[in-house]
Amino acid sequence: MPAAPFIIIAIDGGAASGKSSSSKILAERFNLLHVDTGSFYRHLTAELLARQVAASDPDALQAALGAIQLTTRLDGRSACMLIDGRPAGDEIRGAEVNAHVSHYAAIPAVRSALLAYQRGQVDVAQAHGFRGLVMEGRDIGSVIFPAADFRFFLHADPVERAKRRAAEGRQDSITERDRLDSSRKTSPLTCPVGATDIDTTDLTLEQVVNRMAEAIATKLPPA
Ligand code: C5P
Repeated sequence: MPAAPFIIIAIDGGAASGKSSSSKILAERFNLLHVDTGSFYRHLTAELLARQVAASDPDALQAALGAIQLTTRLDGRSACMLIDGRPAGDEIRGAEVNAHVSHYAAIPAVRSALLAYQRGQVDVAQAHGFRGLVMEGRDIGSVIFPAADFRFFLHADPVERAKRRAAEGRQDSITERDRLDSSRKTSPLTCPVGATDIDTTDLTLEQVVNRMAEAIATKLPPA
């Protein structure tokens, strides 16, 4: 029997566009590793803030990035990034990280520090017997895995996205982060050419998931 294919699914989109909820469900349905790269940028930002390394200080940034060790622990089906053996804390979803993460994420040295680590999640997924991975972020279909089996780009009306965050009980600077993420020079948030663009504004989570799942099922039967 031929070996089952290993599938890579890239899901990009702005803040609160529905990436996390839908990728977690897809991971469950198809037995995939779920990789939330936003949590990686958040964790790294919290670490740099804790070490008082300013985004405006390239030398200190290089020294800090060169000294840290990134490893992975599984939290259910999700990849959890450890920095020097430590998992992220709740502060990565807090106001301070929200306010700083897009500034650090715009710096090429910060993006380079995470590049190989993100691609290495394929090895993590294979080592744990997953049938593939679903990775969400801003540059997954454009930079990290441009040859992914499936590339989706989710977008939604900003008013609807603010409502979603409020319903989660979270304060977030969605519009400002999107502005910074879309306008940066390195790996900006954009719908990659050839990706499937889905407007989630008037769709339920189930409808968004089903639209992606139908496409994925052409290559990989549900688990
Ligand atoms: O996905 P989330 O909103 O948690 O991401 C937090 C921030 O991390 C984004 O606003 C963006 O600045 C950065 N990010 C990025 N590239 C990714 C994922 C996240 O620049 N692939």
